[in-house]
Parts: sequence; structure tokens; C-alpha cells
Amino acid sequence: MRTKMVAGNWKMNKTLQEGVALATELKNTLTNPSCAVVIGTPFIHLATVCEIVKGSPIRVAAENCADRESGAFTGEVSAAMVRSTGAEYCILGHSERRQYYHETAEILKQKVLLALANQLKPIFCIGEVKEERESNRQNEVVKAQLEGSLFDLSAEEFSQITLAYEPVWAIGTGLTATPAQAQEMHAYIRSLVCERYGKEVADNTTILYGGSCNEKNAAELFANADVDGGLIGGASLVAEKFAAIVAAR
Ligand code: PGA
Repeated sequence: MRTKMVAGNWKMNKTLQEGVALATELKNTLTNPSCAVVIGTPFIHLATVCEIVKGSPIRVAAENCADRESGAFTGEVSAAMVRSTGAEYCILGHSERRQYYHETAEILKQKVLLALANQLKPIFCIGEVKEERESNRQNEVVKAQLEGSLFDLSAEEFSQITLAYEPVWAIGTGLTATPAQAQEMHAYIRSLVCERYGKEVADNTTILYGGSCNEKNAAELFANADVDGGLIGGASLVAEKFAAIVAAR
């Protein structure tokens, strides 16, 4: 049975003090979750949040890592540095990183390899923009994203990856994919993983849905056979909302 998961993505929100307060609230609320729970925080929160949630079921993710191992890359944070905080996951390939920071498939491939080499499990985001959906090209876009950054991995490496399907038109917009749209794409993604790595790996791959997933629509989305959980942005910033989404999984 593949892992069911709800992961938060705080993005560029919360001061250190606010993040400490939120992580503490989450730790006190999510004492016995029915699925894996991961919170993705900015780099500056990682070490402190890892200390706070130590001994709880909550795991911690970075939202990015560098595409270089170490050295003279001012302002960057390496996968080894992330891992040294106690974080176990790393969100990679988020559409905001692709769009605003020009992260290409090749750059993301390097990041994935460095994350894996440093025992960080990537939560890898894929998804089409609005124009691509409107011209019915979502499948080819998602396929190219998988092939461009992940499908050169060995089966063993790929089994460390959690996928997140995030239609870009649904992120932060309040426009959620319908449960049927999510299921159709998740089943397609799983079929691609099956073609590349075989049925066992495909059956064990966790595929999250992200994009305006909230405490009201989560249960309906998670009810689909191939939707294994969610990657939550806005609603992960409020402990009660995030806890309600975890409870829906
Ligand atoms: P959202 O963001 O839930 O605020 O739409 C999701 C994401 O970007 O991961």
C-alpha cells in the first residue's frame, strides 16, 4: 500500500516566531494523524521546526535546494545543509520556482539528484498552465516534465519520490481542479510511471494533488483512487484548516 500524505507548503510566509507558533500548534493538534504529515517551511525555519516536531508524527520539508553541491554560490542552500537541519523532504519543481526563478528541467534534475544523494526525499511538482489546459495539452506537458527531470532515475531512486500534480491555474486562485479532472490526470501520471518503472513502482508511488485544496474540498478530491493526498499552500498556514485537511485524508 502506498503512503497517503498531506504536505504543507508555507511558501514565503511566516517570520521565525510565527512559524514556531504554527509548528507548535500543529504538533499539539496532529498527535495521531491517519496519514503521513509533512510541513514545508522556508530554510530559516527548518532547524527550529525540526526541533519542535521531534518525537511527533510530523516530518519537515524544505521548499527548495541548490543545484550545486557546495562552495561559492552566495545565498544558496545545499541539499546537505537542508538534511543537516533534520528535514527529510524537499519540495522541488514547484511552478513558482519554474516560473519566477527559471528552473528548467535540467536544473531540476540536478536538484533531484543532489536531494537523493543527501537522503532527502523529493516532493516533485508537475502541472500545466491555463493555456495548456485550454488547448488540451496537459498530458504532454506533464509527461515532458516527468521525462525531463525524473525518468532517468533508477527504479530504486524513483521510489524515493513523491509526485505532486499541481495545475498551475489552480494554485492560489481558488479554482480547484474538479475531482474528475484530478483523478484523470493522476491515473495518467501513474500510467506513465508504470510504463517506465513497472506496475509495482507505479502502485507504490504517492501522487498528491495541489492547487486551492482546502478543508472544504479535500475529502472530495481524496476520495479518488489515484489521489493519495494533497500539497497545501494557503490552507497550510492556519493550523485548524491544515488539521481538517489531514483529517479528510
Ligand atoms: P495553494 O498552493 O493551496 O495556495 O493553491 C498550493 C501549492 O502551491 O503548493
